[in-house]
Amino acid sequence: MNKQSPIGVFDSGYGGLTILNDLRKVLPEYDYLYLGDNARAPYGPRSFDVVYEFTLQAVQFLFEQGCELVILACNTASAKALRTIQQKDLPTIDSHKRVLGVIRPTSEVIGDFSVNKHIGILATEGTIKSDSYRLEIAKFFPEMQLSQKSCPIWVPLIENQLHEEEGGKWFIKRDIDRLLAKDPEIDTLLLGCTHYPLVASIVKDSVPAHVKVVTQGEIVANSLKVYLEKHKALEAKCSKNGMVHYLTTETSTDFDKKASAFVGEEIHSTHVVLI
Ligand code: DGL
Repeated sequence: MNKQSPIGVFDSGYGGLTILNDLRKVLPEYDYLYLGDNARAPYGPRSFDVVYEFTLQAVQFLFEQGCELVILACNTASAKALRTIQQKDLPTIDSHKRVLGVIRPTSEVIGDFSVNKHIGILATEGTIKSDSYRLEIAKFFPEMQLSQKSCPIWVPLIENQLHEEEGGKWFIKRDIDRLLAKDPEIDTLLLGCTHYPLVASIVKDSVPAHVKVVTQGEIVANSLKVYLEKHKALEAKCSKNGMVHYLTTETSTDFDKKASAFVGEEIHSTHVVLI
C-alpha cells in the first residue's frame, strides 16, 4: 500500500537536471528519482547499440527502485533507445510501466515558436545523426524548414564546467555561427540537448535579438502534466511526497559538487553501478 513510486528521470549526466527543475516546478507534489550515468557520459558520440544498452540498463535499474514511469531526460537516449525500449523491451519487462522521452513533446510544439517557419536545432552528434527531430517535427509541422548542427564539444565543456571560460564560449559561438550560416532566416533555435540550457545565456548573446532560443524543460513538464491527467491508473501509482533523490554512476562527491552548482541547491547523491 505504501510502496514508493517516484518518477524516474534519466540522463547521461547533469543535463537531465534542467528537465527535473521544470518537472518539480510544474508537478511539485510527485517524488522523483534522478539517475545520471556520469561515469559513461557523454552519450552523444556513442553508437546506437551502446546508447540503447546503457539506457536499457538505466531504465531497468529505475524500475527496480520502484519507478512505474521513467522520463528519458536526454535527447540522445530518446533518439537512439526510446522506441526500441517501448516496443521491444517494455512488453516483456512489465507492460504496465512506461518510458517517455523528450523529442516527441518538443516536436509537438516547436513550430508554434516560429513566425517565418525556419527552425534551427543544436544537439549532440547522436541526436542529429538519428534525424529524429526532422521525422517527428514533420508529423506536426510539415511546412517547417529545418537546419541542424551537432555540437560535439558542448557536453564535455558543460560536464567539466568549462563553458564559462573564454575558450568554451568561443566553441559555442562558432557552432551557432555555422548553423546560422546554413540558414540565416532561422528565427527559432531549439537547444535539443538537455545539457544546453546551462549555456542558454551564452547562446542568447550569440544570436540576433529576434531569434527565440527554446529550451525543453517547461515543454516536457507541461506535456507530462497532460499525460498524467490522461493516464489516471499510472498517475495513481506515483508517490506524492515532493521528495527528490539523486543517483549517479560517478563518485557521489564529484556529482554533488557539480550538480549542486547546476541546480542551485545542496545535493547529496548515492553512487550506483549499472549492469
Ligand atoms: N543531455 C543529453 C542529451 O540531451 C546527452 C548528452 C551526452 O551525453 O552527450 O542529448
